[in-house]
Amino acid sequence: MNILLLNGPNLNMLGQREPDKYGSQTLQDIVDDLQAQAESSDVTLSHFQSNAEHELIDCIHNAMGNIDAIIINPAAFTHTSVALRDALLSVSIPFIEVHLSNVHGREPFRHHSYFSDVAAGVIVGFGAIGYSLALTAAINLPKSQN
Ligand code: DQA
Repeated sequence: MNILLLNGPNLNMLGQREPDKYGSQTLQDIVDDLQAQAESSDVTLSHFQSNAEHELIDCIHNAMGNIDAIIINPAAFTHTSVALRDALLSVSIPFIEVHLSNVHGREPFRHHSYFSDVAAGVIVGFGAIGYSLALTAAINLPKSQN
């Protein structure tokens, strides 16, 4: 099974960025933990982070035919990007939306997501562990969709 992890803008700043909201782990720490989990589950995990919407869109397009499930934290694009939503729908790859913080307890503009209604599922508010929960969910997606 091939799983793609995508992280949107400013998540390269994890560790330094508002640690009260996003925790003290860097993105590299999170990816390393997830790689270890993927290896022990016989899953191939690839990762891409970008601050540019078009780069995330191109990565999603390139996933077609190679990737079985996507785990995505669209970050601020969650609340703005019809283009990223359309990219995910265009490749018909099931995806899981992750947020480190509980966006529903924050500013009203973070309450709406352009992704949640078309996601296989959403994991919100558990910090870095959310990525691990998402990987477990992604591995079990074929079962849960039957
Ligand atoms: C975030 C929540 C978004 O509202 C914010 O713009 C982010 C991170 C999260 O993981 O909690 O950049 O996606």
